[in-house]
Amino acid sequence: MTATVINNFLVVGSGAREHAICRVLHRSPQEKKVFCLATNFNPGIVELCDDVTTGDINNSDSVTLYAEKNGVGLAIIGPENPLACGVADALWEMGVKVVGPKKDLAQIETSKACARDLLNEYNIPACPEYKTFSSMEGVTDYLNELGENYVVKYDGLAGGKGVKVSGEHLYSHEEATLYCQELVEKGGRFVIEEKLSGQEFSLMSFCDGETLKHMPVVQDHKRAYEGDTGPNTGGMGTYSDANHSLPFLRDTDIAQAQGINLATAAALKDKFGKGYKGILYGGFMATATGVKLIEYNARLGDPEAMNVLPLLESDFVALCRAITDGNLHEVDVKFRNQATVCKYAVPEGYPDNPVKGEPIDVSGIENREGLFYASVDIKNDQLVEAGSRTVAVVGMADSITAAEQIAEREISTVTGPLFHRRDIGTKELVQKRIDHMDTLR
Ligand code: AMP
Ligand code: GLY
Repeated sequence: MTATVINNFLVVGSGAREHAICRVLHRSPQEKKVFCLATNFNPGIVELCDDVTTGDINNSDSVTLYAEKNGVGLAIIGPENPLACGVADALWEMGVKVVGPKKDLAQIETSKACARDLLNEYNIPACPEYKTFSSMEGVTDYLNELGENYVVKYDGLAGGKGVKVSGEHLYSHEEATLYCQELVEKGGRFVIEEKLSGQEFSLMSFCDGETLKHMPVVQDHKRAYEGDTGPNTGGMGTYSDANHSLPFLRDTDIAQAQGINLATAAALKDKFGKGYKGILYGGFMATATGVKLIEYNARLGDPEAMNVLPLLESDFVALCRAITDGNLHEVDVKFRNQATVCKYAVPEGYPDNPVKGEPIDVSGIENREGLFYASVDIKNDQLVEAGSRTVAVVGMADSITAAEQIAEREISTVTGPLFHRRDIGTKELVQKRIDHMDTLR
C-alpha cells in the first residue's frame, strides 16, 4: 500500500517573493491545490490560488487552524517572522511538512551573534572580526581596536534596517556610541564587527537537512537611491547572469560560498541535533582575501526569489517534497541559463516616509509573467500602494544588459507616486562592480 500524498499546499505570506513561489507551484504539472495565508491582498496570488485568506501569519494558532481547515500536507513559509515565531514547529507538530526551518534553527537569521558564533565554533573561516554586547561595557575599546572600519548591528530582526556601517550611516565613534546606547536602552543585544570591502552577492541553497542544491547567485541593491546612496531598504532590485555566476566573481568565489553554506548546514545539524529543512541564504562579500559572510537568512531572498524561481526548470512540487522528506540527493535541480534583472517600484518617500493608499496602474506591463505584486491592496476597486515595496518586474534574456532593458521598459510603464532605481543591471553599474573587484584583488 502506498502512503496517501496530500496535494494541498500552503504558502505563508503574500509579497512578491510569495507571488513567485505561487507561480512555480502553479506551474508544476502535479495535481494540487494551493492555499495562501496572507497579510495583504495580492491580486497575483489570488489569481493563482484556490483560496487566499488574510490573517496573522506570525501566530502559530491562526496558521495551523488555516492549514487544518484546508487539509494542507505541505507548507512553504515565505518571510522570516513566522519562522522566528515557531510557525514551522507548530505545523510539523500537527503533521504538516514544512519548507522553512524550525525556530531554533532559524536563529541563523534571527540572531546575528548566533550565526557568527556558530561559524566560529565549527571553524568555518568566513567571519569578519566581531564582538557581541548587551551593555556599553567595552564598546569604546572595541571601536578603538577596529578604528575607522566598523559596523554596528542590532542582534535581531529589523527588516534590514538595524545595521549601521561606518562612513555610510555612522561618521564618528561618537555617532556609533550613540547608536549602541539606543540599542542598549531598547534592551537589545548588538554586534560590532569589522567593516569588509568588496562586492556582495547572495547564494541561496535548497537544503533537506543533509544535502544542499545551490541556486544561481544574485546581486541585490539595498540602498534606496541610484549610485548606491540613501537609506538601506529590503532590496531595490537584483540581477543574475546566464552562467549562474556574476561578472565580478571568480569560480573560486562561488565554490567558497557553496562550501560555507554546506559547512553551515552541517554545523546546524550537529549543534541542534536536527536537520535544517528549507532555504539557506548566505549574504556574502567577495573580498581581497576571499569570501566572507555578511549574514544568513533562513528563507528565499526578496527580490532574489524573483530572479531564480522563474529560471527553475525542475518541478517545484517535487523539490519541496524532497526538501521535507530528506531526498534532495535524488532530485536533479536545474535552472535555465538566462540572465535576469528584477526592479522594484516603491512608494515615494520609501523607506522612511512612504506614501500609502495612492492608486497605481500596472496595465502598461507587457509580460504579465514578469510582474510580481508586493505591498499592494485593493481600495474602491482600485489597486493601491500599501506602503512598502510595491511591485516588481523581471526581465529575462541572454545577457544582463538585455534583461535590464526589458525590466526598465516594463517598470517605467507603472504609474502612480512611485520610484525605482534605473541603474540596477545597467552596463555602467555592472562595470563599476567589476572594476571595484579588480582594484581590490
Ligand atoms: P545585513 O542586514 O547584515 O545584511 O546588513 C545590511 C547591509 O549592511 C549589508 O547588505 C551590507 O551592505 C552592510 N554590511 C553588513 N555587515 C557588513 C560588514 N561587516 N562590512 C561591510 N558592510 C556590511
Ligand atoms: N534581498 C534581501 C533579503 O531578502 O533579505
